[in-house]
Amino acid sequence: MKPFLEVKNLTVSFPTEDGLVRASNDVSFTVARGETLAVVGESGSGKSVTSLAVMGLHSRRSANISGQAILHLPTGPMDTISATPEAVRKLRGKSMAMIFQDPMSALHPYYSIGDQIAEAWALYNKGSKADGIRRATEMLELVGIPEPGKRVREFPHQFSGGMRQRVMIAMALVNNPSLLIADEPTTALDVTVQSQILKLLKDMQKEFNMAVILITHDLGVVAEVADRVCVMYAGKIVEQAEINDIYYKPDHPYTIGLLNSIPRVDQLEGRRLQAIPGQPPSLISLPKGCAFRSRCSFSEQVPDNRCATEVPDLNEKLEGHFSRCHLTETQLTRARSLAGSK
Ligand SMILES: Nc1ncnc2c1ncn2[C@@H]1O[C@H](COP(=O)(O)OP(=O)(O)OP(=O)(O)O)[C@@H](O)[C@H]1O
Ligand code: SF4
Ligand SMILES: [Mg+2]
Repeated sequence: MKPFLEVKNLTVSFPTEDGLVRASNDVSFTVARGETLAVVGESGSGKSVTSLAVMGLHSRRSANISGQAILHLPTGPMDTISATPEAVRKLRGKSMAMIFQDPMSALHPYYSIGDQIAEAWALYNKGSKADGIRRATEMLELVGIPEPGKRVREFPHQFSGGMRQRVMIAMALVNNPSLLIADEPTTALDVTVQSQILKLLKDMQKEFNMAVILITHDLGVVAEVADRVCVMYAGKIVEQAEINDIYYKPDHPYTIGLLNSIPRVDQLEGRRLQAIPGQPPSLISLPKGCAFRSRCSFSEQVPDNRCATEVPDLNEKLEGHFSRCHLTETQLTRARSLAGSK
């Protein structure tokens, strides 16, 4: 499948008083139209920082950014990292749109929902205010908000969490974007509402033939909707594969740990990843070897103390299945079976 977005060696760091925070570290992935890529990882692993960089939303004064994020537009490729802020601004909303992690901070409390969606529509369409409100009403209907003609005049605080998330989806999709980045779109929603929102996203993806990046730390979410998964740890991708390979042949001890926290694969829906014992390392002083070593129960199986001294590369161990770990295939098989037997 020809990618719509191609992220290559994307690195984002923030100079701070305490040192350089390496939030996103040499990240590469692709996503095609009609495809959903899930980006999974614990809090602080760099999921939002990576996607905000693709969207051109980091201040160049506070972030150092290198690498590429190429959108393959009908007019030709465009790298959102090296393009001017003005050029990237013109892509937002239409070529790429984002649903932000916190819907309340993304919606303005003093403007009606209709006004806010109409304003997003007016960025790319000519028409009267009434046309914008009509379009907003259509969008609310499309995302399953009852009585859209009435609700379009209401304000964010009058919507429940699930309904607000639908509003965010309506607003992000109002200009038929080619790429949608959904950052934790179902966090803080109850399980039934979560699965309704995910189904809605899936339906919308089909309707608009979008490339979708779904950021989450919820494996249930991944099982329902993703085609491929990137697992991130301490700013780096540690495993990348098709969804079934992630579930049935995980290649990285971190992914194995994440899966192991879920008792039964056929009961994934709605379950949260339980924390793996220990903490990720500081992004200011990353360890010399593997960043996962202090939490990894398999490091002693790797000879010559390599886990402590050598950063593992992200290797393609099987076709389309990448993993960043020194363990051999035989050791991994053992790790998987040990994890499965716990
Ligand atoms: N502007 C900034 N200045 C300094 N550090 C930052 C800045 N923005 C993010 N970070 C740090 O970068 C790291 C990655 O943050 P990011 O928001 O991408 O995590 P995340 O994976 O989205 O986590 P969560 O699941 O909690 O949303 C964190 O340690 C965060 O504190
Ligand atoms: S490289 Fe070593 S420490 Fe890192 S995940 Fe693999 S076995 Fe564990
Ligand atoms: Mg985040």
